[in-house]
Amino acid sequence: MKERLLDIQKQALKDLESIEDLSALEKFRITYLGKKGRVTSEMKRLGELPPKDRPEIGKIANEIKAELSNRLEEAFIRIEARKEKKEIFLDVTLPGRVPFRGHLHPVSQVNREICNIFVKMGYKIVQGPNVELDYYNFEALNFPKEHPARDMQDTFYISDGIVLRTHTSPMQVRVMEKQKPPISIIAPGKVYRSDSDISHTPMFHQVEGLLVDKGITFGDLKGTLTSFVHQMFGADVSLRFRPSFFPFTEPSAEVDIQCVICKGEGCRTCSNSGWLEILGSGMVDPAVYGFVDYDPEIYSGFAFGMGIERIAMLKYGIDDIQLFFKNDMRFLRQF
Ligand code: DAH
Repeated sequence: MKERLLDIQKQALKDLESIEDLSALEKFRITYLGKKGRVTSEMKRLGELPPKDRPEIGKIANEIKAELSNRLEEAFIRIEARKEKKEIFLDVTLPGRVPFRGHLHPVSQVNREICNIFVKMGYKIVQGPNVELDYYNFEALNFPKEHPARDMQDTFYISDGIVLRTHTSPMQVRVMEKQKPPISIIAPGKVYRSDSDISHTPMFHQVEGLLVDKGITFGDLKGTLTSFVHQMFGADVSLRFRPSFFPFTEPSAEVDIQCVICKGEGCRTCSNSGWLEILGSGMVDPAVYGFVDYDPEIYSGFAFGMGIERIAMLKYGIDDIQLFFKNDMRFLRQF
């Protein structure tokens, strides 16, 4: 019986070598390992042996059975792998697959667009801290101690005297403190206010501008911002300067552009006024020069500040500022 078993083993291994497909493999399994297979049948006959021989022969039979099962599995994997390989073929006539390419976030795109316009006019880009001293954020910008803008409802306080900057205007003071005129800078960056609804997020972006030299007038401010609006929104978009108030500019003006949705006719976006506010601006207040040791009799200048998300919303007709920060690819891919 031992001889027979070893013969079966030899024959089985030889058969296996020539098997190339799954149906032949199944036949092999039935022939050797099936219920009536050759190995199985031998095992059923173990009882016919003298009891003393049974353990040895039984062990051999079990080993052969295990070996053939393993080989069967290996052959199965080998045949499957070959089948898969055969199915992958290269069709060089197919059109190429376009890889997905990422791009800048719309806020970054508009930020760059704004900065580029001013860089072309000769402005230098500067950046400063997001965690700011109360001194730069309010004090040196001529915000009186009891000014509502310092209120806890708007400002995130880190500690007494340290805040998350509520605007980019502190950069005006930081720059003037360090250098003498002529100065022409823009300062893009993040700002923070405790506010959240369809047109406010606790973090958003602004670009600040400052130009100081001898003989700068409100006419320079108007010319500069008119050129900016025409480059940003189109040469046919009209704008207006509306008197306003900011503690650090005097006189101050807010700039409105003709509503991009209704072209000035009046609609929901512009609350039927035909105009949309896009930025704050003005001539630097002499009080601010006092903090940086400039002589207001010699120097004059203008400043402006705008929200980047707001500009992007108007440019692309987006009605909810929160969309910028949801990371929804369906929204972001459109830009
Ligand atoms: N910092 C102001 C704000 O966040 C905007 C602003 C108004 C900036 C007038 C200026 C300016 O530079 O001159 O509301």
